[in-house]
Parts: sequence; structure tokens; C-alpha cells
Amino acid sequence: MRAVQFLEYGPAGVVHVAEIEPPHAGPGEIRISVRVSGVSPGETMIRAGRLRDLVPVTFPYRTGFDAAGVVDEIGAGVTGVRPGDEVFGMVAMTRRAANADHAVLTAWAPKPAAWTWQEAGGAAGSVETATRVLDRLGVAAGQTLLVQGAAGAVGTVAVQFAAERGATVIGTAGEHNHDFLRSLGVQPTTYGPGLVERVRSLAPQGIDAVFDCAGGALPDLVALAGDPARVVTIADFTAAAHGVHLSHGAPADGTGERLDSSADPLAVHGLARAVDLAGRGRLRIPIARAFPLAEAAAAHELSETRHARGRIVLVH
Ligand SMILES: NC(=O)c1ccc[n+]([C@@H]2O[C@H](COP(=O)([O-])OP(=O)(O)OC[C@H]3O[C@@H](n4cnc5c(N)ncnc54)[C@H](OP(=O)(O)O)[C@@H]3O)[C@@H](O)[C@H]2O)c1
Repeated sequence: MRAVQFLEYGPAGVVHVAEIEPPHAGPGEIRISVRVSGVSPGETMIRAGRLRDLVPVTFPYRTGFDAAGVVDEIGAGVTGVRPGDEVFGMVAMTRRAANADHAVLTAWAPKPAAWTWQEAGGAAGSVETATRVLDRLGVAAGQTLLVQGAAGAVGTVAVQFAAERGATVIGTAGEHNHDFLRSLGVQPTTYGPGLVERVRSLAPQGIDAVFDCAGGALPDLVALAGDPARVVTIADFTAAAHGVHLSHGAPADGTGERLDSSADPLAVHGLARAVDLAGRGRLRIPIARAFPLAEAAAAHELSETRHARGRIVLVH
């Protein structure tokens, strides 16, 4: 089968498709024939070697954390799913390799009929991350949430989940994305100098919590929240210096890579919530662009611009 991999750190060009033996589902796992899989910005950083002191890597590194497809193998002890079922989900963090023709999932949910294959293939990582951070912040009805970097893959899902919880959502993006953010129920503003004043004028009632999907602005975000404990970032490695929690998903069994000692258990329960919302027409997964699997390197290049609107996916 085909699998996307790289054999050394380097620019996007080190990413290529290799022929490898298909994996098999172990106990508690399922294997899918992948239709669409997601491209992860974190893996572009791993590939570039920027996380080499934080995330141990062995080569070949096979990329991809989430995917959607048709179940073709069931591991021991798995119930409630059969070969031929259409699902979306996540692979083991330690194994990755979702950008491949077959992927072994450790967490999954039925593919909502309302979603295209591209939406399903790009959903699980953003859904898990958004759920993990919104749960940690305790975002609830009546609160006002600021999402920094609201137009990206995680931000677009986080704002919809937060609105569904009954929160008022303010989101930052470039001006060209403001109508798009309004379509997701968000009050948009730009990031950059003057952020504190702009957000305060949109939210004179104050900001209850901040979800940082972008990095680079923690002093402003802490000032807006009034307390570093009300800010969670997924993208800023200077978080500790500001007293802010950097959330990183770690399997509940304690295995897997860890960026800091406060890694949070993967919020896989978010997948079922997403299915429920999608079924009621309340959750879309915006797709920035779909590339053929063979063009994975070009997908990495687009991701590294940091200006994709929604999720980048690979079609198999
Ligand atoms: N720790 C975790 O568990 C975890 C999980 C998933 C992702 N991440 C990380 O979280 C970050 C976001 O992930 P993602 O998948 O959402 O990324 P993404 O889709 O690549 O984000 C792109 C978006 O970021 C916006 N953006 C760029 N620079 C910005 C800035 N300075 N301030 C605010 N927004 C800015 C862009 O908006 P404009 O085009 O409008 O500028 C664009 O829509 C990445 O760094 C990723 O590695 C961490």
C-alpha cells in the first residue's frame, strides 16, 4: 500500500510516498481503507526538525494522525462496528501513519451522512483538540470566548463547538477571513498590534476564556482574560513563561510523546459530540484544499504558509 513518509529532517520536499506492507488491527483497534486523511501542521514542524528536542522521532516517520474510510479489519474485543462501515477517527499517537491507503484507528465514530469524505477525513484531529481545550477552559453558556487564530483547522471547529455550548465567540483572523468567520457565528477582529483594544470594544462585558490556536501573543491574551489560568494555548511554546497551559494531547494510558508534564488526555469523547452536532446540521469541517495523496509535499508547503482556511486533506 502507499504511505506518506520522510526519512530525514528537511524541507517539504523530503516528504514522499513509499510502498509498504499494510498494518493490521490489534486488540481494541480497527483498520480502515482510507478515503481521505488529514495534514497536520505539527507534523510539518516535526519534519522541519523544529521539535527535535521535544518530540523523539525515528525514521522512516510515517505521517498522518486522522482519517476517514471504510472498515476492513476488526481487532480482538471490538464491538459495535463491522467491515464495510464508514467511519472517521484517529490513529495511535505513537504510530501515526494515517496518510496511507490503510490505517489502524484507536478511536473512531460513524461518518456523519451530512459530511463529505473530505470533511470526515479532516475532522478527528480538530474535533479532539477543540474538545480537549474547551473542556479544560470550562466554556459554557453565557460566557465570552476569544479564539486566537479562528480561521484555521482547529479554530473553525472550536468556534462552532463553543457557539453550540451557548458562548459568545470572538475570533481573530486576517480581514479576508472575516465574512467567513461571521458565517460560523463568530464576531471577527484582526490579530496583531491593538488586539487588546479591539477585543475590549467588541466585548465590554469582558473575556471569560481564551483559546490560542496561533501563538506569539500571550501577553495580550493574558491581559484580556485577566488571569493566565483562563488562557490555554496549543501553539505557543513560551506558555510556561506566561503562566499559561500549553495543551498537548497524550493517550490516557500514559504512552506517547509529551511536550511538557501537563499534557492532557486525548478528548476522544469529542468524536461522538461531533457526530451528534453534524447530524443536526450544526458542525461543518471547512476544507482549505484537498490534494491527491501523491502531492503530500505540496500539502505540507501550503500548511507552512500558516494561512490555510480550515483543514488541508489528502485524497487517496
Ligand atoms: N497542541 C495540540 O494539541 C495541537 C493540536 C492541533 C494543532 N496544534 C497547533 O496549533 C496551531 C493551529 O493548528 P491548525 O491546524 O488550526 O493550523 P492552521 O489550520 O494551519 O492555521 C492556519 C490559520 O492560522 C491563522 N493565523 C496565522 N497567523 C496567525 C496569527 N499570528 N494570529 C492569529 N491567527 C493566525 C490563519 O489566519 P489568516 O489567514 O486569517 O491569517 C489561518 O487561518 C498549529 O501551530 C498546530 O501545530 C496543536
